Amino acid sequence: MATPSRSGVFGAATDRRVEQFTESVSFDHRLYQQDIQGSIAHSRMLAAQQVISSDEQQQIETTLTEIGEEIAENRFALRIELEDIHMHIEQALIDRLGDTGRKLHTGRSRNDQVSTDFRLWVRDAIDKLDAQLAAVQRAFVTRCEQDMDVTLPAYTHLQRAQPVLAPHYWLAYCEKLHRDRDRLRDCRRRVNVCTLGTAAVAGTTLPIDRQDVAGRLGFDGISANSIDSSSDRDFVLETAFCLAMIAEHLSTWAEEWILWSTVEYRFIKLPHEFCTGSSIMPQKINPDVLELIRGKTARVIGSLQTLLVLVKGLPLAYNRDLQEDKPALFDAVDTVTSCLELAAPMVAGAELQRESIAARLDRGYLDATTLMEYLIKCGVPHRNAHHLVGDLVRQATDRDVPLAGLPAEVYDAAHAGLSEHVYDVLGVDKAVAAFCSYGSTAPHEVAKQVTLWRERLSITEGSLA
Ligand code: ARG
Repeated sequence: MATPSRSGVFGAATDRRVEQFTESVSFDHRLYQQDIQGSIAHSRMLAAQQVISSDEQQQIETTLTEIGEEIAENRFALRIELEDIHMHIEQALIDRLGDTGRKLHTGRSRNDQVSTDFRLWVRDAIDKLDAQLAAVQRAFVTRCEQDMDVTLPAYTHLQRAQPVLAPHYWLAYCEKLHRDRDRLRDCRRRVNVCTLGTAAVAGTTLPIDRQDVAGRLGFDGISANSIDSSSDRDFVLETAFCLAMIAEHLSTWAEEWILWSTVEYRFIKLPHEFCTGSSIMPQKINPDVLELIRGKTARVIGSLQTLLVLVKGLPLAYNRDLQEDKPALFDAVDTVTSCLELAAPMVAGAELQRESIAARLDRGYLDATTLMEYLIKCGVPHRNAHHLVGDLVRQATDRDVPLAGLPAEVYDAAHAGLSEHVYDVLGVDKAVAAFCSYGSTAPHEVAKQVTLWRERLSITEGSLA
C-alpha cells in the first residue's frame, strides 16, 4: 500500500542512522497546528475544484482536526521513521481514512507545504513579538510621568556629556523598539505570501486554485514563481535579523542598567525579585537577568549567522539543507520572547535613586555646552566660545568646583560683562530648561513626546497599574 513514510531508494530500507540523522520531527513538531490548518485549507480548495468530493473533504477535515487535538493533548506518538511532522499527520490520516487520506497530498509537495506551514508559524510569531514589544514600550512610557522630575547625565564615550530628563532616556528606548516593530511589520508583508501549490519545484498539472487556498489561510497574496518559492528562505532570514536587532537593543538597555545599578553609579534600584544573591557574598544583589539578556543576544546573532551561512551558495531550488532553518529561527524567537517577557516587568519595577543622582549631578560639567551656547547667543563665534569654556572648565577643575562655583571675575576675564547673567544659565536644571530644539531634552518637547507615545500605545490614565 502506498504510504507517505520514508522508503529507501528503489525500495531498499533506509539505514536507521540515516533516519536518525535526517529526521526533523524532533523540532518541526512545533508546526503541527499550521500543518493541519494548511491541509484543511488545501482540502477545501481541492473539493471546491472538484478534485476530491465534498464527502471526502469532510472526512479529511474531521480527521485532521482529531489528529490536531491528539497532538495538542500529547496523545500522539512521534517516531523518527516518519521524518517530519508533515508525514506524521498525513500517515495518521491515511491510517484512519485509507484511500481518502491518500488524496490529501494532491497538487502539493512537502517542499511547498513546509514553506507554507513555516510562513504561518512565523507570521504568528511576529504578531506575538509585536505585542511583547508594545508591552515593553508601555512600561517605559508609564515610567515617564513618574520620573519627569529626574535629571540624569547623558553620556558619550561613557563620559558625562549633557543633562537630560529621565523620560528622554525612556523614550530613546521606545524609539528603538518602535523601529523594531516597524521592521517586523514590514517583514511580515513578505512572510505573508502563500507558496502552497507551487509543489515540488515546477507547479502542477492539476486544476488547483492557489488564490483560494491563500484566502482561506489569511495570506495577502500568492508567490509568482514556483522555483523561487521552494528555495526562498528570505522570510526566515529577515525575521532572524529583526530578532537580532531587538536583542541588540535589549542588550544596550541591559548593559546601561547593569552599570546604573552599581554602587559606583547608584542611579537605579532593580526590582529584587528580578535579581539574584551570591552564595558567598551576602551583600550582593546581582543583575543576572540583565546580564543574561545581554548574553543571550549572542545566541540570536548566532542564529542569524547560521541562517545566512545555511543558504549561501545553495543552488535552486529545494535542498535538504533548508530543513536546518527551523532550529535556528525557533531558538531566536524563543530567546527574544523570553528576554522581552522579563524586560517589561523589570522596566516597570525599577526605581530611580533620586537622592544619589541629585547629589552628584554637579560633577562632570554637564552644563559646559549650555554655557558655550550662551556665549554664542552673546555673539561669540562658536570656535572661540568652545575655547573659552574649555579654559573655564580647566579653571573649575583646578579649584575642584562646578562651573557655577567660579567667581565673577573669572567670568568677566573670559568675556567682558559675562558674570552679569551667567549664573542664570549654570547648573543642570537651568541647562535642561534651556534646551529648545525638536527632539531635544527640552521639558516641553519631552512632555509632547510622552503625550504622543501615550496616544500611540493607547495608554489612558490609570490603564496600567
Ligand atoms: N523534513 C523536510 C524539511 O523540513 C521535508 C522536505 C521534504 N522534501 C524533500 N524533497 N525531501 O525540509
